Amino acid sequence: MWTINVPYVPTPLEVIREMLKVAELKPGETLLDPGCGDGRVLVIAAKEFGARAIGIEIRRDLLEKAIKNIIENEVEDRVLIIQGSFYEIRFPPVDVVFLYLLTSVNERLRPKMEKELKPGTRVVSHDFEVTGWTPLKVLQVKNSGRSHRVYYYILEKSLER
Ligand SMILES: C[S@@+](CC[C@H](N)C(=O)[O-])C[C@H]1O[C@@H](n2cnc3c(N)ncnc32)[C@H](O)[C@@H]1O
Repeated sequence: MWTINVPYVPTPLEVIREMLKVAELKPGETLLDPGCGDGRVLVIAAKEFGARAIGIEIRRDLLEKAIKNIIENEVEDRVLIIQGSFYEIRFPPVDVVFLYLLTSVNERLRPKMEKELKPGTRVVSHDFEVTGWTPLKVLQVKNSGRSHRVYYYILEKSLER
């Protein structure tokens, strides 16, 4: 049985853009969004940053929205979405991971990320830190009167104490 323990709350588009700038996502690089919702992060990564993007989403309704979003934005050639649970799907070797989950979920995913992602992978997390890792940067991004916290990690460097 798949576990859904993170509600769907989309990241505002401007916050996504700031987060991908912090992560220095470059053309030709690959981004992973575990829990990709309506695919907005994947679309921005592909359309505005020239990257490839992979999403994992458990909810079929959101997966269908994401597919629609990807087709409407004509980025089908650069985006892949997998339906399933991010706890069970092996993470592919990517350059940047985008997280908008919960601290408890990040904590549960941390050993998996350490095992499956390559050294040097950049990780940006919206609002929730990855406990046990040291962020290289913590920023506040203001959007529509709300302040969003962004944590930035680089896999090997954040493991060093
Ligand atoms: C807070 S939303 C973030 C959506 C998107 N990443 C964004 O920032 O706009 C978290 C997403 O994770 C999905 N999710 C929750 N548990 C999951 C699981 N075990 N495997 C895959 N996706 C999951 C939810 O359905 C939801 O779409």
